Amino acid sequence: MITAFRKTAETFATGAKTLEQSYFVSPEIFAEEQEKIFSKQWVLVGHQSQIAKAGDYFVAKVASESLIIVRDKGGEVHGFYNVCRHRGTRLREDRNGHLSAIQCPYHAWTYGLDGRLLGAPHMDEVPGFDKADYPLHAVNLASWEGFTFVSLAESPTPLEEWFAPLAGKFSHWNLPKLCSAKRIEYDVRANWKLIFENYSECYHCPGVHPALSKLTPYDAAENDLATGPFLGGFMPITKGNSLTMSGNACALPVGDINAEDFHRVFYYSIFPNMLLSMHPDYVMVHQLWPRSPERTRILCDWFFHPGAFERADFHPNDAIEFWDMTNKQDWHVCELSQQGIASRSYQPGPYSPRESIPAAWDREYLRYVS
Ligand code: FES
Ligand SMILES: [Fe+2]
Repeated sequence: MITAFRKTAETFATGAKTLEQSYFVSPEIFAEEQEKIFSKQWVLVGHQSQIAKAGDYFVAKVASESLIIVRDKGGEVHGFYNVCRHRGTRLREDRNGHLSAIQCPYHAWTYGLDGRLLGAPHMDEVPGFDKADYPLHAVNLASWEGFTFVSLAESPTPLEEWFAPLAGKFSHWNLPKLCSAKRIEYDVRANWKLIFENYSECYHCPGVHPALSKLTPYDAAENDLATGPFLGGFMPITKGNSLTMSGNACALPVGDINAEDFHRVFYYSIFPNMLLSMHPDYVMVHQLWPRSPERTRILCDWFFHPGAFERADFHPNDAIEFWDMTNKQDWHVCELSQQGIASRSYQPGPYSPRESIPAAWDREYLRYVS
């Protein structure tokens, strides 16, 4: 949604073109992305409020791996490969739920919520067998502003180091405390990079989003992060008080928001799979999960202040409907792009000065993939 008008960003984008066709259709490049980006970088899997109580868990699929993200009895969150240490069986088939222990459906080896093997029938008859040698394999897991990230890398850059450019930047938004009121899952028939490129400009807004354009003018954006893995800035809300169907605020303010920011919406892309959209009264987060060169699964959550839920002035659907409509408008043009890019006639096209952020995103992406 961001359109840069800063002189430096515009100059930087001059001459930039969209990516070659192969980046959007090639199974080899898709495999390379899965290996070099999604199996190496910190990727978003959820928010701590999704597993608020001990024993709450959800399953995430990262690259080709299935992971169990679970809160243990001491309140600590762990990530484990969803693989039994006995004969490798998938432990949990469901997407989320509540457990007191993780038991394999095959021969009933049982693991604690901290991954320790607690029970293994008849294995005490095996000479030298020690349960302590067979905990679940853990995955690197860390939290940023309440959001849970995992990395499949053996020794990833510490998460605090990766997020250092954003340290403290969003603290007044109260992100760790927020709770999701709604999740919508989208199956988009477009390459995942088209979703980032679409999110990163509002050049398309007048034609694609008539309702959005009435509330927030497409050409009035300001980026404060114009290079690197985190990109974005804000757009003013010039009509109404929030981006909702009614134009009214639909909940308590999410955090300690200053007067100026009450009339702004902040859009940031967090490489490689998070879109963070902060409104005065709610925060929308997209998780992007590439499924094939032409297909992306998108999970979209709407987060609100925990105190908003019980109040009479809580109208989450006002925000959810607005962005569900706007999301679908975006996915549609991304799918049309995918179709055209697959044509033999496609050639990289020139980015406009209002597409400096997509161009910056492409440059960052190309640092990881040859
Ligand atoms: S494979 Fe899990 S207990 Fe046998
Ligand atoms: Fe859009």
